[in-house]
Amino acid sequence: MSTAASNPANPRGNEPLFSSRARELDEPAARSTVELVTELRQSGQHVLSLYGSPHWLPPDHVLDAARAAVADNDGAPAEGLLSLREAVARRVQRENGIATDPEREILVTNAANHALYVIFTSLLEPGDEVLLFSPHYYYQGCIYLAGGVPVYAQTHQRDGWNWDIDHLESLISPRTKLLLINTPVNPTGHVATAAELQAVADLAARHGLLVISDEAFDHVIYDNRAHLSIGALDGMAERTITVCSCTKSYALRHWRIGFIVGPSSLMPTFRKVLEWNVFNCNHVAQHAARAALDGPQDWVAEISARFQHCRDLMLHALSTDSGVTFTAPEGGPFIFLNTDTLSINMEEFRSRLLRDHGVPTDLGHAFGSDHHLRLPFGGEDNDVQEAGARIREAALAATTPTARV
Ligand SMILES: Cc1ncc(COP(=O)(O)O)c(C=O)c1O
Repeated sequence: MSTAASNPANPRGNEPLFSSRARELDEPAARSTVELVTELRQSGQHVLSLYGSPHWLPPDHVLDAARAAVADNDGAPAEGLLSLREAVARRVQRENGIATDPEREILVTNAANHALYVIFTSLLEPGDEVLLFSPHYYYQGCIYLAGGVPVYAQTHQRDGWNWDIDHLESLISPRTKLLLINTPVNPTGHVATAAELQAVADLAARHGLLVISDEAFDHVIYDNRAHLSIGALDGMAERTITVCSCTKSYALRHWRIGFIVGPSSLMPTFRKVLEWNVFNCNHVAQHAARAALDGPQDWVAEISARFQHCRDLMLHALSTDSGVTFTAPEGGPFIFLNTDTLSINMEEFRSRLLRDHGVPTDLGHAFGSDHHLRLPFGGEDNDVQEAGARIREAALAATTPTARV
């Protein structure tokens, strides 16, 4: 983690003011991109609008449920509205194949990141290791805040980012407390296969490990693939904590509702940690989420279709001699662009893409790579096609001899 954070002295002495946990935190990966884009736009430069989650409104029945809830002064209990937990139970049974008890095995959170914070804070002692594949979503901040240490099992572009279970197993130590998986993988777009999930399940059973399964993008899956949940596998219900989010799968990006599904023995402690953290989650957003989960689902399927369309536009634009390499995403809204073929490094290419071509990408460091940029590809057709064309132009320019100076 960064040690560059400012470090004011404690007015009562020479010790630093901030805790070492806070001092050593990096900024979340996307923040610098958002700041740079805002700065450029304010200075009058046009930057293409690309999105890593649905940027449109959910349908009227969802908004109507929220409107109706505004007048409801009852609020929601810390574990979440029972009506929402019942809707979650129906949804995870229907779509994830997980049978669950809404009263005892579900907790509503302020979306997936908050769910992860609650889980890590509840389960990790200082120095406990969380084992996960890399490249990875930026979990490290949440893990560090809870005192834990991420341990990364590298996956490789040359293998299509497939999971190497033997390598994962070789990294298990006496300090390993949790196994964390994510499918579809942000940022690589890999979607876990049935064989990979079964191998992780077998490994978890052999070593007596709890598995956290982050399925935040479970509705963003392409080419008729199926999203599979490890918690649905035989014997896994009692050792899996599944994390889902309405921010992506139900176009409720700013509403911040997600949920944890897991063994009833864990939920009272998760609920207690959540309660000391935020008391409870916003009830208006919970009513919207309930309507989204329970109502007609055709618009939900369109989310995946829309992202697949954008992915295909981007792949088409990048397909012929684009100067960068990548693996076509099987799910999720990002392409992980490999800049190794260029004569400039990742940082320089990212800066040129943004400043000279108006294409925003995130640096790969926070995702575990010094060689890749994370490119969101959701957006209006014109912007997506234009972004692909500009990346190609920038990459080809960065492979010419003059770029090597
Ligand atoms: C894999 C993954 N997990 C968790 C999150 C956090 O999601 P939320 O916005 O629901 O907190 C994200 C956000 O993009 C993600 O990609």
